[in-house]
Amino acid sequence: MPKLIVVTREGEESTLEGDAGLSVMEVIRDAGIDELLALCGGCCSCATCHVHVDADWVDRLPAMSEDENDLLDSSDHRNETSRLSCQLPLTDALDGLRVTIAEED
Ligand code: FES
Repeated sequence: MPKLIVVTREGEESTLEGDAGLSVMEVIRDAGIDELLALCGGCCSCATCHVHVDADWVDRLPAMSEDENDLLDSSDHRNETSRLSCQLPLTDALDGLRVTIAEED
């Protein structure tokens, strides 16, 4: 199972394991980390699953869709490491991915 490292807004770091194929959002939510609201349940319409991906990983992620890009534009906290975690499938190739939950909008 690929590992996912998550840093909360308070700086608390956890290492989670998730079944390959789950989204990064689902792995975080299933671990009970509730500051990632993920209000739309993963259908790319809310932007409350915003994370910052560690710079080393940014280029290894699947390309961003237009919808994801537009939604991220609605965040005051967007930067070049921003992604919507529901749009990132956790795969074996992403074993060790590290993300930080973005500031609340
Ligand atoms: S959970 Fe709503 S956009 Fe990701």
